[in-house]
Amino acid sequence: MTYSDYVYVCRPQLPDAEAIAGYIRGIDSRRHYSNRGPLVQQLEERIATSFERPAHAVRSTSSGTSALEVAILAKTGLATPDRPLALIPSFSFAATGLAVERCGYRVHFVDIDPETWALDPVALARHPLLDQAGLIVSVAPYGVLPDMAALEALHAATGVPVVVDAAAAFEAVLDHPDQISQSVPLSLSFHATKTFSTGEGGAVIWDNPAGQDMVQQVSNFGFFLSRECKVAGTNAKMSEYHAAVGLAMLDEFPARRRDYARVSALYAKAAEVCDPGGAMLLPPRVSSAYALFEAQDAAHFDRAEKILLGGKVETRRWYEDGQHTQPHFAAAGSDPLPVTDSLSRKLIGLPMAHDLAAHDVARVVRLLQQAAEPAAGAPDPTHGMATSPA
Ligand SMILES: Cc1ncc(COP(=O)(O)O)c(C=O)c1O
Repeated sequence: MTYSDYVYVCRPQLPDAEAIAGYIRGIDSRRHYSNRGPLVQQLEERIATSFERPAHAVRSTSSGTSALEVAILAKTGLATPDRPLALIPSFSFAATGLAVERCGYRVHFVDIDPETWALDPVALARHPLLDQAGLIVSVAPYGVLPDMAALEALHAATGVPVVVDAAAAFEAVLDHPDQISQSVPLSLSFHATKTFSTGEGGAVIWDNPAGQDMVQQVSNFGFFLSRECKVAGTNAKMSEYHAAVGLAMLDEFPARRRDYARVSALYAKAAEVCDPGGAMLLPPRVSSAYALFEAQDAAHFDRAEKILLGGKVETRRWYEDGQHTQPHFAAAGSDPLPVTDSLSRKLIGLPMAHDLAAHDVARVVRLLQQAAEPAAGAPDPTHGMATSPA
């Protein structure tokens, strides 16, 4: 068996050597490799401009996980004995809980709202453990930003600091820069699986100059304008090499978004021609990094996963069955999580790539149709679609 005929769930493509060469040559001549070099600052400025914000609003980091850690440390610092808990959704990637723990908090999982897939700020304001919570981390699931105004209000009403793990939300911030907050920092991931990538990397987005100075300080061993370690910090700095990739990626980004929109339209068209038996959740509703299928129930989900795999289509449960099912978090505190449990057994991550071919999209949808057990003689999902590769 060869692997070449598989449709992979994710096939990242970052700028090639030629596209980054000019930036790298600049690094060679300057011999400035890290510690907020000129490329890092240029990347932050360009991202801030595209977010219609001043340069301070963006501080780059070495990963999305470190962005979340430094956002927490800058916003509120390490956990304290009287408020040791962090209230977070289980419906997320394991990085959310791990980052919270690295800042000294004890994870307590809270269920999500079935409509938004995010924490419900109104319910959180009445949470019985609120008086032990030193932190609330809301997540932007699949790049869908939570209601930032409601989170600001939650922070103001309860005094509990709020940070948003918005790992996949680069496009959401780009399209809705009014959601950038002064009081609630957002962390982004620039991992290769995300639509905008530096290979590994991330950023804290926060329209708060003093807060971002603190982000800079905790990202650099607690140093700020001196070599004195004054606050709990780490090394979360982005290197010039990663910034070079990011700058080349920004150069290509408008074309990249058009390509993703084309693939999203292919999925929508295929699902129109041939009912996949469940909801297709596609960009721009979610980040362009994802095409999601929502099965009717767990039995349908199991059947669809199996049939797609049998048809050599790779799928992914991006958040697995929720963080609470990960062995490391077995002892963490938790509310009952019926929405997380149900959604985790319904959402399937389908193949998505900026250059996914029309015939591969058609294959995915055809297999979904089989999993829905359609009546004999159902229409061909390729009908009416271009069949040549992208
Ligand atoms: C919700 C969420 N948070 C954090 C991360 C971690 O980002 P990184 O891999 O850049 O550290 C991810 C990665 O996919 C994620 O999906």
